[in-house]
Amino acid sequence: MKARDVVVVDGVRTAFGRAGEKGFFWHTRADDMVVRVIRELLRRNPKVTREMVEENVWGATTQEGDQGLTLGRTSALLAGLPESCSGCSVDRMCAGGLTAITTAASEIALGACDIAIAGGVEHMGHHPMGATADPNPRFLTERLVSEDALVMGKTAENLHDLYPEITKEMADEYALHSQLKTARGYAEGKIQKMIVPMTVYTKEGWIVADRDQQPRPETTMEGLASLKTPFRIQGKVTPGNSSGLNDGAAAVLLMSADKAAELGVEGRLRLKGYAYAGVRPEIMGYGPIPATRKALERTGLSMEDMGVIELNEAFAVQAIIFMKEFGLKFPDDERLNALGGAIAFGHPLAGSGPRLVIHLLSLFSDRPDLRYGMTTMCVGLGQGATAIWERV
Ligand SMILES: CC(C)(COP(=O)(O)OP(=O)(O)OC[C@H]1O[C@@H](n2cnc3c(N)ncnc32)[C@H](O)[C@@H]1OP(=O)(O)O)[C@@H](O)C(=O)NCCC(=O)NCCS
Repeated sequence: MKARDVVVVDGVRTAFGRAGEKGFFWHTRADDMVVRVIRELLRRNPKVTREMVEENVWGATTQEGDQGLTLGRTSALLAGLPESCSGCSVDRMCAGGLTAITTAASEIALGACDIAIAGGVEHMGHHPMGATADPNPRFLTERLVSEDALVMGKTAENLHDLYPEITKEMADEYALHSQLKTARGYAEGKIQKMIVPMTVYTKEGWIVADRDQQPRPETTMEGLASLKTPFRIQGKVTPGNSSGLNDGAAAVLLMSADKAAELGVEGRLRLKGYAYAGVRPEIMGYGPIPATRKALERTGLSMEDMGVIELNEAFAVQAIIFMKEFGLKFPDDERLNALGGAIAFGHPLAGSGPRLVIHLLSLFSDRPDLRYGMTTMCVGLGQGATAIWERV
């Protein structure tokens, strides 16, 4: 059987809140955030009726409580998708949402369905990272991984050890650029268009969550230099050059290229190929490098072919290593994260992969010259995930 072309028609996300009681989603359920995104995708694409949606795939790192009970199925029922729409949940931690997309796309490519919704959510306020996990003691007693591997910030400090030429000032400079690009994206109205507003109940009463809570447009190098290094005494990783702890949901609408043509719907990006790869868990931020090499090799493309690259900035050091390995210009390559990244927006784990794809959709609409783009991210316990996209 020949694989069919799969296209992204649209994508949308909630605003990203700060995790915890000060976050605007503290009193909002994760599955309700998912429902908001699904309904908005359908509202914005009236040629796709709900009866046409055949599959609903969602990534979440913690799959219990308001993210449990097979979120792909529960959210389909809650969003008013037909009973006939199947749903499932996947987990690849930070790349859970990207995995939802490649899973649904692969189903479409093999002819298992024609139209799917795929996304990711993480309510890190309700589900603090790893809080209910029970890692097998063998990991440590048999030294399968070092204790560092279980704390992401420590893996970033390990990357600094591995690349001593990447200084704390460089990490801060990178972070500053991320904040400034996001501030510019907001000032130009580009970010708001990707966000579906959601009315939520907070300590201050009902408010509309329509802007991300984490960006700090007032960031300066001096401010960054003064921050503590929570993961190591005299370390280099700070709250300013790390992504944060956030709540958010994001998803895309996928279909076969044939179905898009039949419905008269514009397929905006074609999934050209993707790859996942594993690395030592202690240096999980290195993951995007082998995943990207593999994805490029398998698609027969090179980094020079990529007009835009959306890299999830779990930590600045990890982004800088990626730039170094692929010859991108430090501190700010015009092809990389043109609208800023997770250091500014925040990183609600499984919600971030679809956010990257939504950024590509926005960049491709603004720039007709673009042909190929990439989304790439690192994953806890040592993985990388890369997908390559082509203008239809
Ligand atoms: C780094 C981390 C521990 C910080 O958590 P936190 O202390 O709750 O973070 P905050 O946002 O409260 O920031 C801490 C301080 O830094 C300050 N700060 C953060 N970013 C800043 C910036 N850009 N400029 C100036 N100050 C900044 C805050 O104002 C705050 O100051 P305060 O203590 O005086 O209030 C947390 O964000 C984290 O764990 N990040 C990594 C997440 C992760 O591992 N994800 C998975 C990746 S694989």
